[in-house]
Amino acid sequence: MPVTIRRATINDIICMQNANLHNLPENYMIKYYMYHVLSWPEASFVATSTSNVFDDEDTTGQGGAGNEEDCLMFNDPISGNSIKLDPTYVNPGEKLVGYVLVKMNDDPDQQNEEPNGHVTSLSVMRTYRRMGIAEKLMRQALFALREVHDAKYVSLHVRQSNRAALHLYRDTLEFEVLSIEKSYYQDGEDAYAMKKVLKLDELQISNFTHRGSSEEKVEDDLTSDLLEDIVKNGIDNIAV
Ligand SMILES: CC(C)(COP(=O)(O)OP(=O)(O)OC[C@H]1O[C@@H](n2cnc3c(N)ncnc32)[C@H](O)[C@@H]1OP(=O)(O)O)[C@@H](O)C(=O)NCCC(=O)NCCS
Repeated sequence: MPVTIRRATINDIICMQNANLHNLPENYMIKYYMYHVLSWPEASFVATSTSNVFDDEDTTGQGGAGNEEDCLMFNDPISGNSIKLDPTYVNPGEKLVGYVLVKMNDDPDQQNEEPNGHVTSLSVMRTYRRMGIAEKLMRQALFALREVHDAKYVSLHVRQSNRAALHLYRDTLEFEVLSIEKSYYQDGEDAYAMKKVLKLDELQISNFTHRGSSEEKVEDDLTSDLLEDIVKNGIDNIAV
Protein backbone atom coordinates (compact mmCIF):
# COMPACT_ATOMS: atom_id res chain seq x y z
CA MET A 1 0.00 0.00 0.00
CA PRO A 2 2.48 2.70 -1.13
CA VAL A 3 1.48 6.23 -0.12
CA THR A 4 2.87 9.31 -1.85
CA ILE A 5 2.88 12.81 -0.40
CA ARG A 6 2.84 15.49 -3.10
CA ARG A 7 1.70 19.05 -3.67
CA ALA A 8 -2.01 19.52 -4.14
CA THR A 9 -3.06 20.69 -7.60
CA ILE A 10 -6.28 22.01 -9.01
CA ASN A 11 -7.06 18.46 -10.23
CA ASP A 12 -7.15 17.19 -6.65
CA ILE A 13 -9.76 19.62 -5.39
CA ILE A 14 -12.88 17.46 -5.85
CA CYS A 15 -11.18 14.62 -4.01
CA MET A 16 -9.98 16.93 -1.22
CA GLN A 17 -13.53 18.16 -0.74
CA ASN A 18 -14.76 14.58 -0.74
CA ALA A 19 -12.26 13.60 1.97
CA ASN A 20 -13.20 16.68 3.98
CA LEU A 21 -16.91 15.77 3.78
CA HIS A 22 -16.11 12.26 5.00
CA ASN A 23 -13.94 13.30 7.91
CA LEU A 24 -14.97 16.67 9.30
CA PRO A 25 -18.08 18.72 10.03
CA GLU A 26 -16.35 21.92 8.84
CA ASN A 27 -16.91 21.90 5.08
CA TYR A 28 -16.15 24.39 2.34
CA MET A 29 -17.28 25.26 -1.17
CA ILE A 30 -15.08 24.24 -4.10
CA LYS A 31 -14.12 27.88 -4.71
CA TYR A 32 -12.53 28.03 -1.25
CA TYR A 33 -10.26 25.08 -2.13
CA MET A 34 -9.45 26.80 -5.44
CA TYR A 35 -8.61 30.00 -3.61
CA HIS A 36 -6.05 28.11 -1.47
CA VAL A 37 -4.49 26.04 -4.25
CA LEU A 38 -4.34 28.86 -6.82
CA SER A 39 -3.15 31.57 -4.41
CA TRP A 40 -0.51 29.48 -2.60
CA PRO A 41 0.12 26.53 -4.94
CA GLU A 42 3.20 25.38 -3.00
CA ALA A 43 1.59 25.15 0.42
CA SER A 44 -1.14 22.48 0.36
CA PHE A 45 -0.38 18.76 0.07
CA VAL A 46 -2.20 15.52 -0.61
CA ALA A 47 -1.43 11.90 0.26
CA THR A 48 -2.38 9.40 -2.42
CA SER A 49 -2.24 5.65 -2.58
CA THR A 50 -1.71 3.58 -5.68
CA SER A 51 -2.74 0.36 -3.99
CA ASN A 52 -4.76 -2.03 -6.13
CA VAL A 53 -7.07 -2.86 -3.26
CA PHE A 54 -10.35 -1.78 -4.81
CA ASP A 55 -12.11 0.28 -2.21
CA ASP A 56 -11.54 -0.02 1.48
CA GLU A 57 -13.39 3.14 2.50
CA ASP A 58 -17.14 3.30 2.59
CA THR A 59 -17.88 5.95 -0.02
CA THR A 60 -21.54 5.04 -0.22
CA GLY A 61 -22.33 6.26 3.27
CA GLN A 62 -24.41 3.10 3.72
CA GLY A 63 -21.95 1.16 5.84
CA GLY A 64 -19.54 -1.52 4.67
CA ALA A 65 -16.92 -1.23 1.99
CA GLY A 66 -18.03 -0.46 -1.54
CA ASN A 67 -17.28 -3.01 -4.24
CA GLU A 68 -16.67 -2.82 -7.93
CA GLU A 69 -20.23 -3.77 -8.91
CA ASP A 70 -21.66 -0.96 -6.77
CA CYS A 71 -19.66 1.73 -8.58
CA LEU A 72 -20.44 3.51 -11.80
CA MET A 73 -17.82 2.65 -14.41
CA PHE A 74 -16.91 4.80 -17.39
CA ASN A 75 -15.04 3.60 -20.48
CA ASP A 76 -12.43 6.20 -21.44
CA PRO A 77 -12.63 6.28 -25.28
CA ILE A 78 -9.02 7.50 -25.58
CA SER A 79 -7.14 5.10 -23.29
CA GLY A 80 -9.73 2.32 -23.45
CA ASN A 81 -9.41 2.02 -19.65
CA SER A 82 -12.33 1.52 -17.36
CA ILE A 83 -12.52 4.50 -14.99
CA LYS A 84 -14.43 4.41 -11.75
CA LEU A 85 -16.56 7.50 -11.25
CA ASP A 86 -15.65 7.96 -7.65
CA PRO A 87 -14.44 11.19 -6.03
CA THR A 88 -11.88 9.21 -4.01
CA TYR A 89 -9.75 8.79 -7.15
CA VAL A 90 -7.64 11.68 -8.44
CA ASN A 91 -6.50 9.55 -11.39
CA PRO A 92 -7.30 6.00 -12.43
CA GLY A 93 -5.57 3.88 -9.78
CA GLU A 94 -4.53 6.86 -7.63
CA LYS A 95 -6.71 7.33 -4.59
CA LEU A 96 -6.59 10.40 -2.34
CA VAL A 97 -6.20 9.27 1.27
CA GLY A 98 -5.39 12.56 3.01
CA TYR A 99 -4.83 16.26 2.50
CA VAL A 100 -3.73 19.40 4.26
CA LEU A 101 -5.20 22.70 3.09
CA VAL A 102 -3.02 25.66 3.97
CA LYS A 103 -2.93 29.39 3.27
CA MET A 104 -1.03 32.52 4.13
CA ASN A 105 -2.89 34.92 6.36
CA ASP A 106 -4.10 37.68 4.04
CA ASP A 107 -6.40 39.41 6.51
CA PRO A 108 -6.15 43.16 5.72
CA ASP A 109 -6.66 43.92 9.44
CA GLN A 110 -3.39 42.12 10.19
CA GLN A 111 -1.18 43.98 7.76
CA ASN A 112 1.25 44.98 10.49
CA GLU A 113 1.77 41.37 11.56
CA GLU A 114 4.78 39.39 10.37
CA PRO A 115 3.93 37.05 7.45
CA ASN A 116 2.14 34.03 8.88
CA GLY A 117 0.32 30.96 7.65
CA HIS A 118 -2.87 29.19 8.63
CA VAL A 119 -3.86 25.52 8.48
CA THR A 120 -7.45 25.56 7.23
CA SER A 121 -8.11 21.82 7.19
CA LEU A 122 -6.39 18.48 7.60
CA SER A 123 -7.76 14.97 7.39
CA VAL A 124 -6.76 11.40 6.63
CA MET A 125 -9.21 8.71 5.52
CA ARG A 126 -10.03 6.31 8.35
CA THR A 127 -8.32 3.20 6.94
CA TYR A 128 -5.07 5.10 6.53
CA ARG A 129 -4.85 6.65 10.00
CA ARG A 130 -2.07 6.13 12.55
CA MET A 131 0.50 5.53 9.84
CA GLY A 132 2.19 8.93 10.13
CA ILE A 133 0.43 10.42 7.09
CA ALA A 134 -0.98 13.51 8.86
CA GLU A 135 2.39 14.26 10.43
CA LYS A 136 4.10 14.05 7.03
CA LEU A 137 1.49 16.24 5.35
CA MET A 138 1.85 18.83 8.09
CA ARG A 139 5.64 18.85 8.05
CA GLN A 140 5.69 19.36 4.28
CA ALA A 141 3.18 22.20 4.53
CA LEU A 142 5.01 23.94 7.40
CA PHE A 143 8.30 23.70 5.52
CA ALA A 144 6.72 25.16 2.36
CA LEU A 145 5.10 28.01 4.28
CA ARG A 146 8.44 28.96 5.79
CA GLU A 147 10.66 28.38 2.78
CA VAL A 148 8.43 29.65 -0.03
CA HIS A 149 6.29 32.27 1.70
CA ASP A 150 8.65 33.28 4.51
CA ALA A 151 5.93 32.63 7.11
CA LYS A 152 7.33 33.35 10.57
CA TYR A 153 4.65 31.33 12.29
CA VAL A 154 1.56 29.26 11.56
CA SER A 155 -1.76 29.11 13.39
CA LEU A 156 -4.75 26.77 13.52
CA HIS A 157 -7.86 25.90 15.51
CA VAL A 158 -8.76 22.51 16.88
CA ARG A 159 -11.81 21.22 18.75
CA GLN A 160 -11.21 20.67 22.45
CA SER A 161 -12.56 17.12 22.13
CA ASN A 162 -10.33 16.13 19.16
CA ARG A 163 -7.75 14.00 20.97
CA ALA A 164 -6.08 12.68 17.83
CA ALA A 165 -5.52 16.13 16.32
CA LEU A 166 -4.48 17.60 19.67
CA HIS A 167 -1.84 14.92 20.11
CA LEU A 168 -0.56 15.54 16.59
CA TYR A 169 -0.35 19.32 16.92
CA ARG A 170 0.73 19.75 20.54
CA ASP A 171 2.88 16.67 21.19
CA THR A 172 4.20 15.59 17.80
CA LEU A 173 4.53 18.95 16.03
CA GLU A 174 5.06 21.09 19.15
CA PHE A 175 2.43 23.75 18.58
CA GLU A 176 1.69 25.89 21.64
CA VAL A 177 -1.83 26.58 22.87
CA LEU A 178 -2.41 30.34 22.71
CA SER A 179 -5.97 30.56 24.01
CA ILE A 180 -9.35 28.88 24.21
CA GLU A 181 -11.90 30.44 21.86
CA LYS A 182 -15.34 29.95 23.35
CA SER A 183 -18.04 28.53 21.05
CA TYR A 184 -15.73 28.83 18.05
CA TYR A 185 -17.52 26.01 16.20
CA GLN A 186 -21.08 26.19 14.85
CA ASP A 187 -22.29 23.51 17.28
CA GLY A 188 -20.99 25.59 20.20
CA GLU A 189 -17.81 23.61 20.96
CA ASP A 190 -14.76 25.57 22.13
CA ALA A 191 -11.52 25.62 20.12
CA TYR A 192 -7.90 25.70 21.12
CA ALA A 193 -6.15 28.43 19.12
CA MET A 194 -2.64 27.11 18.45
CA LYS A 195 0.54 28.56 17.03
CA LYS A 196 3.96 27.33 16.00
CA VAL A 197 6.96 29.50 15.27
CA LEU A 198 8.58 28.31 12.03
CA LYS A 199 12.36 27.92 11.97
CA LEU A 200 13.76 26.70 8.67
CA ASP A 201 16.61 24.63 10.13
CA GLU A 202 14.19 22.75 12.42
CA LEU A 203 11.72 22.12 9.60
CA GLN A 204 14.12 20.43 7.15
CA ILE A 205 12.26 17.33 5.98
CA SER A 206 15.45 15.24 6.14
CA ASN A 207 15.36 15.67 9.96
CA PHE A 208 12.26 13.50 10.13
CA THR A 209 12.65 10.87 7.44
CA HIS A 210 14.16 8.37 9.90
CA ARG A 211 11.74 9.16 12.72
CA GLY A 212 10.27 6.04 14.31
CA SER A 213 12.84 3.75 12.81
CA SER A 214 15.07 1.81 15.16
CA GLU A 215 18.07 2.61 13.00
CA GLU A 216 20.07 5.68 13.84
CA LYS A 217 19.61 8.66 11.58
CA VAL A 218 22.18 8.54 8.78
CA GLU A 219 23.62 11.89 7.81
CA ASP A 220 24.38 12.54 4.14
CA ASP A 221 28.07 11.97 3.62
CA LEU A 222 28.99 14.13 0.68
CA THR A 223 32.67 13.24 0.78
CA SER A 224 32.49 9.53 0.02
CA ASP A 225 31.75 7.94 -3.31
CA LEU A 226 28.78 5.56 -3.28
CA LEU A 227 30.09 3.40 -6.12
CA GLU A 228 33.49 3.02 -4.43
CA ASP A 229 31.76 2.04 -1.16
CA ILE A 230 29.68 -0.62 -2.94
CA VAL A 231 32.79 -2.11 -4.55
CA LYS A 232 34.61 -2.10 -1.17
CA ASN A 233 31.83 -3.21 1.19
CA GLY A 234 29.25 -4.98 -0.96
CA ILE A 235 25.77 -3.62 -1.69
CA ASP A 236 24.13 -5.11 1.45
CA ASN A 237 26.37 -3.08 3.75
CA ILE A 238 25.61 0.33 2.26
CA ALA A 239 23.32 2.66 4.18
CA VAL A 240 21.38 4.96 1.84
C1 LIG B 1 -6.27 13.90 13.25
C2 LIG B 1 -5.85 13.07 12.06
C3 LIG B 1 -5.60 13.99 10.86
C4 LIG B 1 -4.54 12.31 12.38
O1 LIG B 1 -4.13 11.62 11.22
P1 LIG B 1 -3.13 10.39 11.27
O2 LIG B 1 -2.55 10.21 9.90
O3 LIG B 1 -3.80 9.22 11.87
O4 LIG B 1 -2.00 10.90 12.28
P2 LIG B 1 -0.51 10.35 12.39
O5 LIG B 1 -0.50 8.88 12.09
O6 LIG B 1 0.40 11.21 11.58
O7 LIG B 1 -0.22 10.52 13.93
C5 LIG B 1 0.42 11.66 14.46
C6 LIG B 1 0.47 11.52 15.98
O8 LIG B 1 -0.87 11.56 16.52
C7 LIG B 1 -1.13 10.37 17.25
N1 LIG B 1 -2.51 9.98 17.04
C8 LIG B 1 -3.12 9.72 15.86
N2 LIG B 1 -4.39 9.35 16.08
C9 LIG B 1 -4.57 9.38 17.42
C10 LIG B 1 -5.67 9.08 18.27
N3 LIG B 1 -6.85 8.66 17.76
N4 LIG B 1 -5.52 9.25 19.60
C11 LIG B 1 -4.35 9.65 20.13
N5 LIG B 1 -3.25 9.95 19.37
C12 LIG B 1 -3.36 9.80 18.04
C13 LIG B 1 -0.18 9.34 16.69
O9 LIG B 1 0.07 8.30 17.64
C14 LIG B 1 1.05 10.18 16.43
O10 LIG B 1 1.72 10.40 17.66
P3 LIG B 1 3.31 10.21 17.86
O11 LIG B 1 3.95 11.31 17.03
O12 LIG B 1 3.47 10.41 19.34
O13 LIG B 1 3.64 8.85 17.37
C15 LIG B 1 -6.93 11.98 11.70
O14 LIG B 1 -7.27 11.29 12.88
C16 LIG B 1 -8.20 12.57 11.08
O15 LIG B 1 -8.26 12.73 9.87
N6 LIG B 1 -9.19 12.85 11.90
C17 LIG B 1 -10.47 13.41 11.44
C18 LIG B 1 -10.28 14.82 10.90
C19 LIG B 1 -9.64 15.73 11.92
O16 LIG B 1 -9.92 15.66 13.12
N7 LIG B 1 -8.78 16.66 11.43
C20 LIG B 1 -8.12 17.63 12.27
C21 LIG B 1 -8.97 18.84 12.38
S1 LIG B 1 -8.18 20.10 13.33
